[in-house]
Amino acid sequence: MTTEVITEPTAQELAGVAAERFIAAAHRAIDDHGMFRVALSGGNTPRALYEKLAVESSKSEIWDCVQVFFSDERFVPPDSTESNFHLAKTTLLSRVPIPERFVYRVATVEIPPEAAAKAYEDELRRVFAVRMPDVPRFDLILLGLGEDGHTASLFPDTEALRVQDRLVVANFVSKLNTWRVTFTYPLINAAEHVIFLVQGEGKAEMVRRVVDGAPDLPASGVHPDSGTLTWLLDQAAASRLPETRQTV
Ligand code: 6PG
Repeated sequence: MTTEVITEPTAQELAGVAAERFIAAAHRAIDDHGMFRVALSGGNTPRALYEKLAVESSKSEIWDCVQVFFSDERFVPPDSTESNFHLAKTTLLSRVPIPERFVYRVATVEIPPEAAAKAYEDELRRVFAVRMPDVPRFDLILLGLGEDGHTASLFPDTEALRVQDRLVVANFVSKLNTWRVTFTYPLINAAEHVIFLVQGEGKAEMVRRVVDGAPDLPASGVHPDSGTLTWLLDQAAASRLPETRQTV
């Protein structure tokens, strides 16, 4: 695994670099195997990236060859403002010419969480044409970082942290009293490229601990064994890292 830490002065500059990295990864994958398969992250941080991508790449020819999944999803309707799909759709996917059939959202209406996770895993395997026990290899998985060290919906002290034989699971997060559907470590760690996109002073201590490999934090379990792990940080989120770890 190759690890890099890229720090940008501001959140806006961070979004710009993240958009450049996204487009570069897309061109590499499309040149290499004709398709770019990417998993988008949720929460608030990626909003600026998605809006930047919508503005800068709406005319790009890549979108005919991009297939979008979600590294996790809240168990809410797709038109809920809490939905990660809704965030991506409103800020990016409705503003670029990606074929609708290439956007794969988690079913979250009138289906139990575990059935939704199973259906999503089956769809993933079908799209990648990868059967058990092989693991689909995403070209890029975007992840955020929570202040408790969670990533995707791999929260501390939850069942999903221990899953090694599934790609996608339903995960009850008791501290939020809610179900989530999330990628598991085997799927994340099979990726060609994983990007942690993190901004703000509030995440700085957690960034330092995860970059240092603190074993008790879910995000520390992300290590794309034969891929690249990139930390894309603004100065505030990188502020607790030693100077030597902050490459700009
Ligand atoms: C989610 C995300 C989650 C998120 C972190 C950071 O569904 O909430 O997938 O893992 O990336 O909680 O969220 P913010 O970007 O809002 O700080």
